[in-house]
Amino acid sequence: MSLPGTLGIDFGTSNSAMAWATPGDTARLIALEGEATAMPTAVFYNSEDLSTHFGRDAVAQYLEGTEGRLMRSLKSLLGSPLLQETTVVNHRQVSFQDIIATFLATLRERATRALGTAPTRVVLGRPVHFVDDDAARDAQAEGALLQAAYSVGFEQVSFQLEPIAAALDYERRLSRESTVLVVDLGGGTSDFTVVRLGPQRMQQVERAHDVLATTGVHIGGTDFDHRLSLEQVMPLLGYRHLGPDGREVPSRVFLDLATWHLIHRLSTQKALTEAQALWTNYADVGLHRRLMRVLTERHGHHIAHAVEQAKIRCSQFDSDAVVDLAFVEPALAAPMSAAALREQLDALFQRTVACARECVQQAGLADNQLAAIYLTGGSSALRPFQRVLQAAFAGVPLVEGDLFGGVASGLAYSG
Ligand SMILES: Nc1ncnc2c1ncn2[C@@H]1O[C@H](COP(=O)(O)OP(=O)(O)OP(=O)(O)O)[C@@H](O)[C@H]1O
Ligand SMILES: [Mg+2]
Repeated sequence: MSLPGTLGIDFGTSNSAMAWATPGDTARLIALEGEATAMPTAVFYNSEDLSTHFGRDAVAQYLEGTEGRLMRSLKSLLGSPLLQETTVVNHRQVSFQDIIATFLATLRERATRALGTAPTRVVLGRPVHFVDDDAARDAQAEGALLQAAYSVGFEQVSFQLEPIAAALDYERRLSRESTVLVVDLGGGTSDFTVVRLGPQRMQQVERAHDVLATTGVHIGGTDFDHRLSLEQVMPLLGYRHLGPDGREVPSRVFLDLATWHLIHRLSTQKALTEAQALWTNYADVGLHRRLMRVLTERHGHHIAHAVEQAKIRCSQFDSDAVVDLAFVEPALAAPMSAAALREQLDALFQRTVACARECVQQAGLADNQLAAIYLTGGSSALRPFQRVLQAAFAGVPLVEGDLFGGVASGLAYSG
């Protein structure tokens, strides 16, 4: 029996969520891990007992030091040549496309458990651009996600732009007609839309004419973490360190370590051998020993996680924070001041805000025609970003929304 409703799946770079809506009803977010309705987009292959884990469970297994491989930021691989590359996990050769399918299969299983029967009609979210300025690779990325969804048993699959989904969710809270700029700043992408919303418009089936413009850019929280890790933490392992010949240590290993979706590359024997050979490039071999400890003990994701946590603390309390690296070496830590956060991320904020500006321009509106700027996505909570955005749209009220569930609900409504 097929259920008369739509499952919205927000397959996010950092977190995923799902919601279920039947015509005329309020969407309901599906509990994915206990009560939690959002779960980290993470897969852990435990090599001690060959089991596979997802979400918080996957992250916890890794942080507890269980032997195995953690995969994060899987969505960042869509549209990249790495997608079809294979890697060995638990004695099996799998492609990253397979790993994405495994994650979607788990989402489907959990939705089926919550609904009592398997959903058939699915709306998947997608960013405005999976890949910037490359329509062919962008289409490839969507195609790969579609194929993964079919391969795990979903039958009717369509796509909706994530910022439009966020807008449809926000619309439920509006009591009068307004034109808003929706800002969805997530882990991998920043997406914008200018839309006309309102209780009367909500009743209409055809909404395309209410969407005045959409824009997007491949910048998100994982890029902020990348920048901060390179500036604050990687120098402790030898990034930009000068060797005896006065030249910098080759940077590749640090760039991979600071990039969520590339960290897994450093767990191969080949990567370890290459890193071992770097010792001649160091004047201070203590830094090289530390790098090797990080690689052999597989602290890469732990460092990324520590940087992310420090970023969030720094933003939330608008005060200086510390990246605690005691798991690498007793008392090792990197400072992260509120000023450093602001300065190091400013160029990324400026590009993001320029994309928001372009969206309003494409919509043909002046700022004073916007009733509000609606913020969603985890990174939209970053205070220094909000300040840059507010400065660019002086006088337009910022409305903070549902950070992690709004897109999934809106996708379910789009069905
Ligand atoms: N309070 C906070 N302040 C700043 N950043 C935060 C906060 N909470 C979460 N983040 C960041 O938000 C990002 C995740 O947001 P979200 O779950 O909306 O992304 P996503 O939907 O997985 O990604 P995308 O939509 O780009 O595919 C992470 O980079 C995380 O570090
Ligand atoms: Mg998102």
